[in-house]
Amino acid sequence: MATIDWKSLPRPIVALSPMADMTDSAFCRVVKEITGSSPLVMFREMVSSEAVVRGNDKTLGMTAIHPDERPLVQQIFGSDPTTMAEAVRIIDTEHHPEGFDINMGCPVYKIVSNFNGAALMKEPERAAAIVKAMKAATHAPVSVKIRLGWSDPTDAITFAKVLEDAGADLLTVHGRTRTQGYSGVADWQAVGNVKRAVSIPVLCNGDIHKAELIQKALDISGCDGVLIARGALGNPWIFKHFNELAAGKTPEPVTLNERIRVVKRHLALHLEQYGPESVTTFRKHLSWYFKGLPHVKSHREKMMTVKTREELEAVLDEIGKNI
Ligand SMILES: Cc1cc2nc3c(=O)[nH]c(=O)nc-3n(C[C@H](O)[C@H](O)[C@H](O)COP(=O)(O)O)c2cc1C
Repeated sequence: MATIDWKSLPRPIVALSPMADMTDSAFCRVVKEITGSSPLVMFREMVSSEAVVRGNDKTLGMTAIHPDERPLVQQIFGSDPTTMAEAVRIIDTEHHPEGFDINMGCPVYKIVSNFNGAALMKEPERAAAIVKAMKAATHAPVSVKIRLGWSDPTDAITFAKVLEDAGADLLTVHGRTRTQGYSGVADWQAVGNVKRAVSIPVLCNGDIHKAELIQKALDISGCDGVLIARGALGNPWIFKHFNELAAGKTPEPVTLNERIRVVKRHLALHLEQYGPESVTTFRKHLSWYFKGLPHVKSHREKMMTVKTREELEAVLDEIGKNI
């Protein structure tokens, strides 16, 4: 089975960051369709290792991969090395993603209170044991997504070395501490200090919200690549725009017609994944797609209360007519 070789992937590595409820198969396919054949890596939203091992159908369904999305990295969270390794074996056998990622950065109380996510940054020995157990369970590379620290923004330097020694193939560093949550700004310079402390590839993450900022984050951090999260929500064009900038071209602004076309395509893929009743769970994407667009304001309320595909498509057509 094909796997990612993080060391030899062309630089910069530009990848879609894992986002719970967002970077599902439908969204990853939309991003890939727009970006074309560039070597874009997708990080699938996190799944619970315990739920995978319990055989939870919904969780296992979240790990399914459409061929168009590859190469794809499946992120998992948990705190028990044996369970994490077993989850890797199960997902590998079923869907063979090109890589696995461990969530050691999630700041949410529900996650850290169970010693998952960013809480693992306070338990380096357990974190190392998880990496080792997962590495022994798969031929695919195992990467780790961390923050700068729990509260001290220099914690990640020592922690990154622990992960590297345990066999991690790549690290992503979100340039904030757990205590910061999403406040303040991501410190790309501090991410660079982590990059220089290890010899495995490191991706810079946090506040890279526009294609124009990708090169800036790379220059400041000196990282091998970036992971883009919120900058891709409602804006799956960000990766295409970066490729155009890198080729010396100025990206054309996304027209309303193109936006509506992509929303309809995303809706179709969402319904394909979750069934015809799932228009309500698609609404979260609409607020991102139409954020700050003044001529959409009068349609917003209707758009956020629709229940069927036909109703939503009718609102979208209405928006398209009023350009
Ligand atoms: C809705 C949402 C869901 C997220 N879910 C995950 C997740 O499943 N795993 C993870 O490691 N990070 C998750 N994150 C964090 C992002 O991957 C990223 O690290 C963070 O948003 C900072 O990057 P950004 O400034 O590009 O958004 C999530 C963020 C958002 C906004």
